[in-house]
Amino acid sequence: MNKMNNVLVIGSGGREHALCWRLKQSPSVAQIYCAPGNGGISQDVTCLTLATTEAIIEFCREKAISLVVIGPEQPLVEGLADKLTSASIACFGPSKMAARLEGSKGFTKGLCKKYGIPTADYGFFTSPDAAKNFLKNKTYPLVIKADGLAAGKGVIVANSQSEALEAIDSMFSGAFGDSGKSIIIEEFLEGPEVSFFALTDGTSAIEFGYAQDHKRAFDGDKGPNTGGMGTYAPPPIMTDALRKTVMQGIILPTVEAMKKEGCPFKGVLFAGLMLTKQGPKLLEYNARFGDPETQVLMARFNADLYPALLACANGGLDKVKISFSNEAAVCVVMASKGYPGTYEKGSVIKNLEKAGGAPAVKIFHAGTEKRGSDIVAVGGRVLGVTATGKTIREARDVAYKAVSAIDWPEGFCRSDIANKGL
Ligand code: AMP
Ligand code: GLY
Repeated sequence: MNKMNNVLVIGSGGREHALCWRLKQSPSVAQIYCAPGNGGISQDVTCLTLATTEAIIEFCREKAISLVVIGPEQPLVEGLADKLTSASIACFGPSKMAARLEGSKGFTKGLCKKYGIPTADYGFFTSPDAAKNFLKNKTYPLVIKADGLAAGKGVIVANSQSEALEAIDSMFSGAFGDSGKSIIIEEFLEGPEVSFFALTDGTSAIEFGYAQDHKRAFDGDKGPNTGGMGTYAPPPIMTDALRKTVMQGIILPTVEAMKKEGCPFKGVLFAGLMLTKQGPKLLEYNARFGDPETQVLMARFNADLYPALLACANGGLDKVKISFSNEAAVCVVMASKGYPGTYEKGSVIKNLEKAGGAPAVKIFHAGTEKRGSDIVAVGGRVLGVTATGKTIREARDVAYKAVSAIDWPEGFCRSDIANKGL
């Protein structure tokens, strides 16, 4: 492919920064645009505001965009991919019906049951009475989940019947908005968690890496759940045999099932897995790349990203060659003090250029804005300080060295990212 393709990336997080950065190195890509982007993305590619779907479509025509890459789940669940496809614009990301794999936990659990895909046993409820009835003779812990999107917050582990009753009441009384109008109650699974990625064009699927995330805010997996405080890849726990089991037993049956259901999934399947004693089980699907998983995936990816993403939209993924380097990658998230609760906005982050100067380091931005020559923190998760190295230990040490060079007293990070991979 020659360098004449223009790409538009939708989103504003570290995930989108990592995708833009890797796409920029693609020999098949000429121009990259990101809407809305952020302070760091704007240093790598052109950022702009496109407030409506109509504005996106118009921009794609004006700039001869040959692929739109949709980063976050919200526009997917709302059907942006369908509208782009109807306008004959190629789009990386599933249709609204296929995005139900992320948008409705009830849909996904039903699909797993119908097609024998391993997941926790569960019940699905649309009323508090039915849910409470289900609790009779149950042992604890049990996991209670809002059906719809809840920004990663709609999951409560109940350690007793009273906690379960409280969780049911809070979900049905709107603690997670409309996403809690129906709920799942499921068996508590134990084991290490892995984020597993596969690209699919609706018919074939290829592995696209895996990582371990750190979801709690503080060291030692303490504190509240967050979007993710750091990642490393590849987790040594993911053996070749296990990868094969996941592809054969979870990913490929899902691709097949979605096709049979009349809503083929095109894009990236992000399986949240629990590696239980009985084998890997699906905790949840996401219909998009992970954040901060993408930062370490892109740090290790060493093929041409454009044809791989394009093939998800247009088919022919089975003919696409991808590869990852043998190096390890670690991403340490720096967040605003107070995150995931309330935090101040507007502090200036200094010394980024020097901190990110080493060739093995890339600082991906999430909640930042460029004001004049300053980079200012405007979000919860703000930076993803990412480094590669021969081993996980080396990558971790290089990442933390870069973190300590960043002058931002208003931020914090965990100090134990990747330790469980050592
Ligand atoms: P989810 O948003 O479904 O990925 O859930 C968020 C987190 O809750 C997961 O990363 C797990 O740590 C935990 N979790 C979800 N489902 C279960 C389960 N069935 N058993 C144990 N932990 C779970
Ligand atoms: N890091 C978890 C997610 O992207 O959902």
